[in-house]
Amino acid sequence: MSEGDRLTELAKRRGFFIQTAGSYGGVAGFYTYGPEGAALKANIESAWRDRYVTREGNMEISAPTIMQEEVFEASGHLDGFDDMIIECPECGESHRADHLVEDDPDSTVEDAEALPIPDVEGLFEDHDITCPTCGWELAGEPVEEFNLMFETNIGPGSSDPGYLRPETAQGIFVEFPQLAEYARNQLPFGVAQIGRAYRNEISPRKALVRVREFTQAELEHFIDPETDEPPLWRVEDVVLPLYSAEQQDADDGGVQEITVAEAVEEGIIQSDWIAFYLGISKAYYERIGVDMDRFRYRQHLPGELAHYASDCWDAESEIDGDWIEITGFAYRGDYDLVKHEQYSGEEYSVFKQYDEPVTVEKPTVDPDMGYLGPEFGSAAGEIVTELERLAASDPDAFEGDEVTVEADGEAYTIPVEKTGFEIEEVTESGEHITPHVVEPSFGVGRMVYTVLAHAYETDEVDGEERTYLSLPPEAAPTTVGVFPLMDKDGLAERAKEVANQLREAGLEVTYDDSGAIGRRYRRQDEVGTPFCVTIDYDSLEEETVTVRERDTTAQKRLPIDELPGTLSALRDGDATFDEF
Ligand code: ATP
Ligand code: GLY
Repeated sequence: MSEGDRLTELAKRRGFFIQTAGSYGGVAGFYTYGPEGAALKANIESAWRDRYVTREGNMEISAPTIMQEEVFEASGHLDGFDDMIIECPECGESHRADHLVEDDPDSTVEDAEALPIPDVEGLFEDHDITCPTCGWELAGEPVEEFNLMFETNIGPGSSDPGYLRPETAQGIFVEFPQLAEYARNQLPFGVAQIGRAYRNEISPRKALVRVREFTQAELEHFIDPETDEPPLWRVEDVVLPLYSAEQQDADDGGVQEITVAEAVEEGIIQSDWIAFYLGISKAYYERIGVDMDRFRYRQHLPGELAHYASDCWDAESEIDGDWIEITGFAYRGDYDLVKHEQYSGEEYSVFKQYDEPVTVEKPTVDPDMGYLGPEFGSAAGEIVTELERLAASDPDAFEGDEVTVEADGEAYTIPVEKTGFEIEEVTESGEHITPHVVEPSFGVGRMVYTVLAHAYETDEVDGEERTYLSLPPEAAPTTVGVFPLMDKDGLAERAKEVANQLREAGLEVTYDDSGAIGRRYRRQDEVGTPFCVTIDYDSLEEETVTVRERDTTAQKRLPIDELPGTLSALRDGDATFDEF
């Protein structure tokens, strides 16, 4: 059984995730998190919030998931957010063309998304690639672009199209003018958001890995590209598993273990900001339970870069021998803010105050309208605008007796003396700059899936095979299972009191009194509960309990009144089981 299959089986049986509306046959690409999965997801999100919002001093917002068409025209998603689709003429099933090419056993192509469409069509011919559903030969079938956004109508009728956001990021970018005010116009500042995103994926697959509705945790860090530096010293010694574009191209290329400082010095990571985020994120992945032996940072190949990105690295986890992108780290430059400024007509910049006012020479024009009006009629207004533009961009053009500008496709020649051209000395206190954006974009569902896959363990206990999830206590859906040894002689009542005491202390507790104690341990092991507490006859006499650790199955006797503090410290990583 593959890792994915056994995980999906466990997920359904124990309440991590199930296909949505299974009674109606379900629809590919939609999953519902069950009680265990929802708790695990919430813990991964709150560790993310702690890391990227609280500890970095960033803001967090929550924007709508539907926005009007203009937003996505500006962002480039309407035109450019496409995947390659190929349809099987025999069974009518649609597939991601680039994925079929990559999955073909004879093909060595690792990143077909980066190839032009004709090349991908050529690969279908060269490798006789067939439809995975019915086996029909797909050579000769057209590969086309398919836009991944879900479209809807805002209000009755169809005059106001809207789209479900394909990334939470746009909800942050459109609010930049206001967010900059909240940040008192001081760069750098970061704005985070955890929320749903929607993509009409052509072929959803691998359970939570490729779905049509998913949760992203994104941080947009707005910086002054000229002056803002990340605190690289905080992460310079962190060792990163890097799979650079160069290594991907090399015949014997592989992952290099290299410190952040070395990677920056050697130019492997071009942006210091991306290097900083790769550095702090490694500790986050370890914290939530990603196995570092099955993890790497992979650089995007040039043809793979998103339409807005200039440098991009993905955090990838390995499952079933495949590498899955769990996070994209992109240097988006000023792409988004410039576009939203163009399309909205609002200013998407911040005013950067100089340390001291500076005096600059500023070319200006003050055209003689008494001349321009009669001479050029209705074109006069446009000519003035063009003269202003020319003075700012090329003041030397005013050095002769005449100057020529183009307005509405026609050239107009004007005597320089009629333009009122002058170079003035102006004192300026600052300038408007468009910040650049550094973006770590995490897929929460893919992290949940990875953490579950990497935590899945089996061993033998008391001669029986055992399955357990070796989740970090902080991420585990439940921290402690409380069991009465038997449901009699007041043991259940005392166990319920202990469970309530632990809940009052803010711990996630499951109470279980059904079946043999061994079976109860197994149930908690399978959902990754790190500690179990058993109330027995000695508990009534001595006010102590047995505490059992999941991975080692080691047991200790601890006083009941110390349990809340001890278990909280174990959950928060402030103590280890050996210490007690
Ligand atoms: P892929 O190449 O796998 O389609 P992507 O490059 O399109 O991913 P991004 O656009 O960088 O992904 O999205 C940021 C993050 O959102 C990804 O790292 C991933 O964790 C998550 N994500 C993207 N698409 C999906 C999806 N269909 N299902 C689940 N998570 C997704
Ligand atoms: N915000 C990055 C992405 O979703 O593509």
